[in-house]
Amino acid sequence: MNKLGVNIDHVATVRQARRADEPDPVWAAAEAELGGADGITFHLREDRRHITDRDAELLKRTVATKLNMEMTLDPGIVKIALRLKPDQCTLVPEHRQELTTEGGLDVARLRRRLAPVVKRLNGAGIITSAFIEPAKEQVLASAACGFKAIELWTGGYAHAQNEPAQAAALEELVIALELGWDCGLTVHAGHGLTYRNIEPVAALGGFEEFNIGHSIVARAVFVGLRAAVREMKRLLDRALQTAAVLDRFDVEEAAQKK
Ligand code: PXP
Repeated sequence: MNKLGVNIDHVATVRQARRADEPDPVWAAAEAELGGADGITFHLREDRRHITDRDAELLKRTVATKLNMEMTLDPGIVKIALRLKPDQCTLVPEHRQELTTEGGLDVARLRRRLAPVVKRLNGAGIITSAFIEPAKEQVLASAACGFKAIELWTGGYAHAQNEPAQAAALEELVIALELGWDCGLTVHAGHGLTYRNIEPVAALGGFEEFNIGHSIVARAVFVGLRAAVREMKRLLDRALQTAAVLDRFDVEEAAQKK
C-alpha cells in the first residue's frame, strides 16, 4: 500500500531541451531509489520527446526496484515492451500535441484492440495496468480486457478548484477504487499529485502505488532528487498512519454504540 513510483520523464525533458547528455534520467532513477522510491516509471513516447530507447534499455538493466513502462498500443512500442520486459506496463493515451498525458485511456471503446496486446503482455509475465478515469464503465472494461491493475487518473481531484469539488472528486476515486477491488484488480493512482494534495488520497489507504513525476522533479531542482523523494515517501507513510488511526476510531465508535 502507498508505494511510490517516481516518474523520471521530466529529467529527460530537461536533457532533450538541449539535446545534451545531461541530466541523465538513469542517474535520476538511482537517486530516486536511494531516496526510498519503490519503483521507477518512464514513458517511452512514440515521438521519443523525452525518454529514448537508450534510456529504456539502461533503466531495465539498472533499476533495482519495480520498473513501470507507460506506453501506447503502437506496434513498435509493444515490440520493445515485450523484448524489454519491464515489471509493469501501463497503457496510456498519447497525443502528439499534449504537454503530458491528459486524462485516461478509453478502455471501454478500445477494448477490442487492447485485449490481444494485454494478453501478450500478461503472457510475458508483465503486470498490465490501464490508466483510466475513475468511471464505472472504464473499471469494468479494464477487468474484462484482462488487465491485472488499473491506475486511476487523479487529475480531476488535483485540478479541483474548491473544497466541495475536491471532495466530490475524492468520492469518485473511492467508488472506482472499491469497484476495482471487487473486480480483483490492483489499484494505483497518479497524475497531478503534489506535496500539497497527496495526503487525503493517500489516507484512503487503498491504493497500492502512486505514480508521481512533476511535483517531485520540480522540488528536486531545489533540494535534490533524493531529498524530494524522501519527503514524498514520508507524506505517504504518514497518511497511512492517519488512516490506521481513523480506522481505529471507527471500530471504537462502533463498539461504543453496541
Ligand atoms: N501516471 C501516468 C499514467 C502518467 O502518464 C503521468 C504523467 O506522465 C503520471 C502518472 C505522473 O503525473 P505527474 O507528472 O502529474 O505527477
